[in-house]
Amino acid sequence: MEIKVQKTTAPKEKPADETKLGFGHIFTDHMFVMNYDTGEGWHNARIVPYGEISLSPAAMCLHYGQEIFEGLKAYRTADGSIQLFRPDENFKRMNVSAERMVIPKIDEEFVLSALKQLIELEKDWIPHTDGASLYIRPFIFATDPYVGVRPADHYLFMIILSPSGAYYSTGLNPVKIYVEEKYVRAVRGGTGFAKTAANYAISLKGQDEAHNQDYEQVLWLDGVEQKYIEEVGSMNIFFVIDGEVITPKLTGSVLPGITRKSSIELCQKWGMKVSERRITIQEVAEAYDSGKLDEVFGTGTAAVISPVGHLKWGDKIMTINDNKIGPISQKLYDTMTGIQYGKIPDDMGWIVKI
Ligand code: COI
Repeated sequence: MEIKVQKTTAPKEKPADETKLGFGHIFTDHMFVMNYDTGEGWHNARIVPYGEISLSPAAMCLHYGQEIFEGLKAYRTADGSIQLFRPDENFKRMNVSAERMVIPKIDEEFVLSALKQLIELEKDWIPHTDGASLYIRPFIFATDPYVGVRPADHYLFMIILSPSGAYYSTGLNPVKIYVEEKYVRAVRGGTGFAKTAANYAISLKGQDEAHNQDYEQVLWLDGVEQKYIEEVGSMNIFFVIDGEVITPKLTGSVLPGITRKSSIELCQKWGMKVSERRITIQEVAEAYDSGKLDEVFGTGTAAVISPVGHLKWGDKIMTINDNKIGPISQKLYDTMTGIQYGKIPDDMGWIVKI
């Protein structure tokens, strides 16, 4: 499919101070757009100036949430080249989400080539500062003007780009996490494994209450017994207990994170004992009490590797590794970002150059 390009006549000023980008506030000059209509499939692929879009107030995405998205990043290396980290995994996962949300699938190779073309056009927006990158947000949503409930016949696929710094304002400093016992995020058979807006909307109430108690994020437990640990919502979670690196297994209600998968692969390569298994919050608390809870960290595209310094479960507050980043979290962070920013060789075959 040909991609038409309409360049902006009013380019915006690039951020002057790359250390103050924050996350997800600033958007580049152009975006990728493509339409889907039943009978015609995906068509009208175009790169256009970034700007507002017009939607019917009856657009189905606004009423029933038929939407999916992805998150990945473009990195600038010291020699000035631009690279992506496992982008094929994002578009593969997008099609898994599409299947669950009855959204038409995309051609993974085509959207990756469209993304490369968009980034090529926007390459001056990619930050030069260590730790900053160009966050990429592909998404698809239903646009039919109809307030009945059924899968839509019309969709938009878009990619927008945002020069960003760390997701958490604390950077690599440990985050404070609150174990949620009242609300649940997902149940097996639901949409927990899909990257769809509803999973994030559902998390807001718990997050709001955690913020009120001065905790940054919520650790979700399983939706049936509220015993087994699932994920944080903005990242997957890992525990290091007595030398074993443990992360909840993918049972259908946990997002199959790409940084999660990459962390498992690195730990396996380093000869560590890595387990994807069910783990209860009780097991974590017991490990803490017996001095065997060495590290806790989250993994995510936006969050990268995020050490957890405090975990609050009911009245119990666990301070992990003295509220300092642990050796495994640090090694994963250094290796992952080293590969992403081209500082160390990519012997895993994860990098796609633009
Ligand atoms: C990402 O890590 O890219 C995500 O989509 C998580 C989101 C909460 C920022």
